Amino acid sequence: MDYAIETRDLSKTYNGRIHALKGINLRVRTGSCFGLLGPNGAGKSTLVKTLLSIVHASSGTAQLLGKDHRDPAARKAVGYLPEGHRFPLYLTGRGVCQYFGQLAGFAGAALAQDIEAKLALLSMSEWADTRVSKYSKGMLQRLGLAQAMLGNPAILFLDEPTDGVDPVGRYELRNVIRSIQAGGTTIFLNSHLLSEVEEICDEIAILHRGSIMQQGSVATITASVGGQGKSCLVTFTTSPVTAGVLAQLPATTTPLNEQRGFQVSLDSESGISALVDVLRLNRVDIFGIEQTRLDLEDAFIELIKSPPANPAAAPQSATARMNP
Ligand SMILES: Nc1ncnc2c1ncn2[C@@H]1O[C@H](COP(=O)(O)OP(=O)(O)OP(=O)(O)O)[C@@H](O)[C@H]1O
Ligand SMILES: [Mg+2]
Repeated sequence: MDYAIETRDLSKTYNGRIHALKGINLRVRTGSCFGLLGPNGAGKSTLVKTLLSIVHASSGTAQLLGKDHRDPAARKAVGYLPEGHRFPLYLTGRGVCQYFGQLAGFAGAALAQDIEAKLALLSMSEWADTRVSKYSKGMLQRLGLAQAMLGNPAILFLDEPTDGVDPVGRYELRNVIRSIQAGGTTIFLNSHLLSEVEEICDEIAILHRGSIMQQGSVATITASVGGQGKSCLVTFTTSPVTAGVLAQLPATTTPLNEQRGFQVSLDSESGISALVDVLRLNRVDIFGIEQTRLDLEDAFIELIKSPPANPAAAPQSATARMNP
């Protein structure tokens, strides 16, 4: 298996006392869109900054595209959209790209051409000559992505790319990120927005207090916290259901307000047949049976509610799950 990013026991302690990363073991497949999910202060930005050597690791190792992450050659093929970035307000969009492109070592006609291509990819061409002080948050993030894409990096680190962006802007950014991934770029995306990560990432890791709690596909993580699915049975009847019928049902019944009906929620599909039998035997009309699944949001909350007793053990299990 080919990995664009690999870390082994990567740790970062700030000022000798803030343990922001506690032995992170991660593997990110080349060409995937990997989501690092975690609440505020979990260590997401620290992990990205450590991988990019903006912050020095306290211990452990990391590789980008098979090279030591501290090797400047490893960072050549990497693009980065920092969290809460601020561009010089007096620059135009094109000026920002020129500034960061030159800092990254690009120059001349090739850079100019690349800038036009990336501004077009991010639908920013018509704003290229406008100062960024006039840009909306969504436009600033699109410009941030454009500068991160200069030189066609093999790995793109996006730290909270849709922060402060409205739903339409988020939708557009998601599409852009998908198209960048389709072009073969590996994407590493930090987010605390569960819905976003669920929609665009192939694989996710949940970081909590500096430890990876889980890693895998959305389905794997949902299943691992017991989210095998819940089944809901909604019933309606022309005459009120008697207390005697309700007493025979295997689960709690909730009256529905608008109509004279009841809803029964089951923890698994196995009870559906028995429930239907009781209802039909008592001539209760069934309106519908609907299956619901535990979503990533539920799984995430479950996981961070019960952090591991020994956080250092979590990355080991995450690695084991990653390599079936
Ligand atoms: N430069 C620093 N010096 C000291 N402590 C820091 C520094 N940067 C981050 N921290 C601490 O490290 C921990 C992890 O912070 P980090 O910014 O990596 O979290 P995060 O998951 O990116 O959070 P957010 O969702 O708010 O962006 C926090 O306790 C934070 O206060
Ligand atoms: Mg952060």
